Amino acid sequence: MAPVTIAVMGAGLIGRRHAAHIAAEPSVRLAAIIDPAPAGREVAAEYGVPCYPDFASIPAGQRPDGGIVATPNQLHVENGLELVAAGIPALVEKPIADSIDGARRLVEAAERAAVPLLVGHHRRHNPMIRKAREVIESGRLGRVLTLSGQFWIMKPDDYFDVSWRREEGAGPILVNLIHDIDLLRYLCGEIVEVQAFSSNAVRGNPAEETAVALLRFESGALGTVSASDSVVAPWSWEMTTGENPAYPQQDQGCYQIGGTHGSLAIPQLEWWSNPDKRSWWEPLRRERIPFVPEDPLRAQIRHFGKVIRGEETPLVSGREGLATLGVIDAVKRAARAGGLVRPSGLAAG
Ligand SMILES: NC(=O)c1ccc[n+]([C@@H]2O[C@H](COP(=O)([O-])OP(=O)(O)OC[C@H]3O[C@@H](n4cnc5c(N)ncnc54)[C@H](O)[C@@H]3O)[C@@H](O)[C@H]2O)c1
Repeated sequence: MAPVTIAVMGAGLIGRRHAAHIAAEPSVRLAAIIDPAPAGREVAAEYGVPCYPDFASIPAGQRPDGGIVATPNQLHVENGLELVAAGIPALVEKPIADSIDGARRLVEAAERAAVPLLVGHHRRHNPMIRKAREVIESGRLGRVLTLSGQFWIMKPDDYFDVSWRREEGAGPILVNLIHDIDLLRYLCGEIVEVQAFSSNAVRGNPAEETAVALLRFESGALGTVSASDSVVAPWSWEMTTGENPAYPQQDQGCYQIGGTHGSLAIPQLEWWSNPDKRSWWEPLRRERIPFVPEDPLRAQIRHFGKVIRGEETPLVSGREGLATLGVIDAVKRAARAGGLVRPSGLAAG
């Protein structure tokens, strides 16, 4: 089986990681780097592949079988549309777009052209998360009634030396909470109503630094999520899962999901239940659910290769990316205006 070829647009922080995973995965091959900056030529030289300043510069016969869009958020729609127009399956980094309208345009164009569109919410490819979903679907928690999620972390002062990181839109709601919201949607279903607060009490930048949201799920479950990039704490996906070795891993949790017959702690994958009668007086059993870890970015690349070959359908489709962005947009609107907000862009729409 000949490997399918993939080009990476944007050779920055995440684009380089994609290039490395493509190079390490036998079922795919790195075709080219597309980036007008010197970084593009450096990364291309590292892997011995051509570098182009833009997609249009690729000679017709050299076009890749798939493309990864790892450019800044504001370019996702434009770059995604270029790939779709050329009939090339696209994996677009999260967020799918910098606006709901843009996301919808891209999703609809891909659907019209019948070109697979994937969104880089790679955490869904984590075997631990797939196992968590299995546990919930198996009924071991009973009916899920409530959940809580935390993204509490300290971004150092010099992180904010880059001006866009201080601006509206660059705070932890869009940059970080979008990952958590996407996973909670994947695990517990659609979010239909949102209330939220946000604050910038310490740094005072236009971007929020702390946000809290109440979520109502279509199933009737109720959830709370909170995010802050100005708190010294171990409770976040980043600090607890060990997914990215750049963060010092802590033996703590970031999500709890509670049901009528048990609850689940993530990422430990500990299932809590009453062995006999369900009661606060009775002993609680704690059982660790086993799984085989794998780097989810690597698993995502392998999956993308299979989607390109027509062997799998996207695990995180454009519609899913749009629905997750819709919830994030609702959190922002609720935090700004108060009251109850219904997300737009639901997956079924
Ligand atoms: N899935 C994740 O966990 C994850 C992690 C980090 C970033 N991201 C997302 O990936 C995207 C990129 O983030 P980053 O941190 O790598 O950014 P970055 O700034 O490090 O890199 C962006 C790259 O895009 C290049 N670029 C700019 N305009 C271009 C164009 N027109 N064509 C091709 N290349 C162009 C820049 O030269 C730069 O090399 C963002 O959307 C971000 O949200 C996702």
